[in-house]
Amino acid sequence: MDLSNRTVLIVGGTSGIGRELARRFAAAGSTVAVGGRSPEALSALAAEGFGTFGIDVTDGASVGAVRDAVLARYPELDTVVTMSGVMLTEDLRDPAHFGAAEATIDTNLVGTIRVIDAFTPHLLGRGAGTFITVTSGIAFLPFPPMPSYAASKAAVHAYSEALRAQLDGTGVDVVELVPPAVATAGQEKVNPHALPLDDFATEVMQLLSANPTPREILVKGVLMHRWAERDGTYADLVAQRAKALSMFPGREG
Ligand SMILES: NC(=O)c1ccc[n+]([C@@H]2O[C@H](COP(=O)([O-])OP(=O)(O)OC[C@H]3O[C@@H](n4cnc5c(N)ncnc54)[C@H](OP(=O)(O)O)[C@@H]3O)[C@@H](O)[C@H]2O)c1
Repeated sequence: MDLSNRTVLIVGGTSGIGRELARRFAAAGSTVAVGGRSPEALSALAAEGFGTFGIDVTDGASVGAVRDAVLARYPELDTVVTMSGVMLTEDLRDPAHFGAAEATIDTNLVGTIRVIDAFTPHLLGRGAGTFITVTSGIAFLPFPPMPSYAASKAAVHAYSEALRAQLDGTGVDVVELVPPAVATAGQEKVNPHALPLDDFATEVMQLLSANPTPREILVKGVLMHRWAERDGTYADLVAQRAKALSMFPGREG
């Protein structure tokens, strides 16, 4: 993908990975708009020169209104990144987890589908374009404290595969970004192995710039998760990661 001449919308671009990739695409020469809910973050990004759109991906009306506003301002839009996501832990022995499960699925999975549905007619009409979906190493190697998160990301992986097959021959590509733990959203405080955001973004932009663009953007740090099942390390790694369940009350052992 030529990163210097795209017109990109990053939904979930108000912080973390999305905001950094917005800056990287802009630095490479592309035109970039970002969406998210935080008015403060949107104002700060508008001051940096980005087009900004208040959007809640859990609300179909909000997604539809933003689609119309984005296409009115950027009729040449060719790249849509579905970055919005929440990363919540859930103790499945406590029924109160259900609210987190619902929020996770509605944002990460149904929100992704809402955004893709909103922009599919436009990209099909252009006969060229790219959806970049966002999953996680956890889609391929569950982290037991985050069950609905793992389920949502495994689902977005499967959805991305099916979407790619359905759009085959239309000129619209589907690229799946699969981050490992990256030092954003509080990860830096709890996970000493989280990749620095800067290093991660540099590797992502290098991989995205390949021609043809890979179907999956796999930085080196995620290969262990992505291929655990194939490599026969899956059971041991899940057991190791289950030790983190000690974070929940009454599970110290
Ligand atoms: N950091 C990691 O270790 C890691 C690893 C693997 C995958 N990922 C994935 O990468 C993506 C970005 O994560 P991040 O680490 O950069 O976290 P982050 O800083 O918390 O970013 C999440 C983004 O999603 C947006 N968002 C959340 N709920 C939304 C909603 N209802 N409507 C619209 N936007 C919403 C947030 O914007 P507002 O709050 O302004 O709405 C923000 O821009 C997520 O999909 C995450 O699952 C992250």
